[in-house]
Amino acid sequence: MKILIADDETDQRNLLKGFLEKQGFSVFTAANGREALEAFQRLPIQLVLLDHRMPDMNGDEVLTEMKSLQPTVRAIMITAYGSIETAVNVMKLGADDFLEKPVDLRLLLEKIRWIEQRLAVETEAGDVETAMEDGDLPIRMVSGSPAMKEVLSVVRRAAPTPWTVLIRGETGTGKELIARLIHELSPVREGPFVVVNCGAIPENLFESELFGHEKGAFTGASSTRRGRFEQASGGTLFLDEIGELPLTLQPKLLRAMQEKRISRVGGEREFAVSVRIVAATNQELKRRVEEGLFREDLYYRLKVLDLVIPPLRKRREEIPELVDFFIERYGMTPVRFSAEAMAVLVKYPFPGNVRELEHIIQRTVTLARSSVIEARDLPPDIRFIDTDQSGSLGERLAAMERKMLLNALDDAEWVQTRAAEQLGISERVLRYKMAKLGIRRKE
Ligand SMILES: Nc1ncnc2c1ncn2[C@@H]1O[C@H](COP(=O)(O)OP(=O)(O)OP(=O)(O)O)[C@@H](O)[C@H]1O
Ligand SMILES: [Mg+2]
Repeated sequence: MKILIADDETDQRNLLKGFLEKQGFSVFTAANGREALEAFQRLPIQLVLLDHRMPDMNGDEVLTEMKSLQPTVRAIMITAYGSIETAVNVMKLGADDFLEKPVDLRLLLEKIRWIEQRLAVETEAGDVETAMEDGDLPIRMVSGSPAMKEVLSVVRRAAPTPWTVLIRGETGTGKELIARLIHELSPVREGPFVVVNCGAIPENLFESELFGHEKGAFTGASSTRRGRFEQASGGTLFLDEIGELPLTLQPKLLRAMQEKRISRVGGEREFAVSVRIVAATNQELKRRVEEGLFREDLYYRLKVLDLVIPPLRKRREEIPELVDFFIERYGMTPVRFSAEAMAVLVKYPFPGNVRELEHIIQRTVTLARSSVIEARDLPPDIRFIDTDQSGSLGERLAAMERKMLLNALDDAEWVQTRAAEQLGISERVLRYKMAKLGIRRKE
């Protein structure tokens, strides 16, 4: 990494330079703000260590200027001891970190290493994102959060290897999408991508499904059939819901993976297959191992590279971008979500993750009557979810009231007389409350 040190004190400059060079960094120095900016325009600097107080320009000004020249530049501001306000301010200006004088070298190194790691993640994720944007990949996806950048960075490194990747994540988090991305970035991208849903195949048909069968191997085997392994030859075999793989079949899969040879059911001959394996699960596979439902040797064979996709509620910052992404996919006419509607979506915990959000958008934009979608156009179970226990008494009572009204209306199939009766209020009061709480029947 290329580092620029800007400090007006010669001793301090030399001390930091000597230390960082010994750690293997290439280091440049500047004695004031102007010199720093001049060097910055000339050299491919990735990180600056900026003394906050310099005679000509202060660190804030230098940083602002550098950020406008090169928004991705990283910076650590070196501030006077105890000046917490300065520190807060420099973080707002886009510094990655700050250190107080006198500089603790071990701490400095720790911070630099951390920045270096994030830089690597962003570069790798950026490669994948660029390939998607340029249309070099037949896949488009949203990856705005640091958590998803981390996922893309691992994908970038895992894809070219022959190792098995185990993708873990809750339902609807994008496991299959990531599996396809791995395939598209791999050396076997020209080959087939074959999906086996291990949860959907009856146990007695499983072996034939995976490995194929010869004619007459069992009743009903009226002709020879190639299994998924063979179909995926020269490409990627995606074993979805691998946790559901019957215990009896696990040794056979393990063997096929280790020896790279298979034989069809009822077949004499063994033959070689070359497939890249990617598996996915939404279960705690480790727990299934402990419970004796999943073989430990297979588990370790599968998780050579382990990739975890975080649930959507842990990367809420992606929700607005995902909303736009799905509007583009499903909207016939231009629509947008009002700020209030977006706020409702961002708060919702999405147990069904990205797929659930996708369905909500699909449904709402299809039914939308105007170009702006309001909160009341969203399905009631999303609007009135108990997101947390905070809020004033009034807000929480209103939320509770809404929920009770909606439940009663649903039970009564929106016949207001019946709903009012169930709630023990008059129909007039019900109508008044519905208007006040913005409850409206949806088609
Ligand atoms: N980051 C993303 N950007 C855009 N679309 C996404 C993203 N993640 C998931 N999706 C979309 O969400 C839907 C669900 O994704 P996918 O089928 O890959 O999830 P999954 O984890 O395999 O779900 P399940 O566990 O239910 O099989 C798909 O339509 C997919 O294209
Ligand atoms: Mg899936």
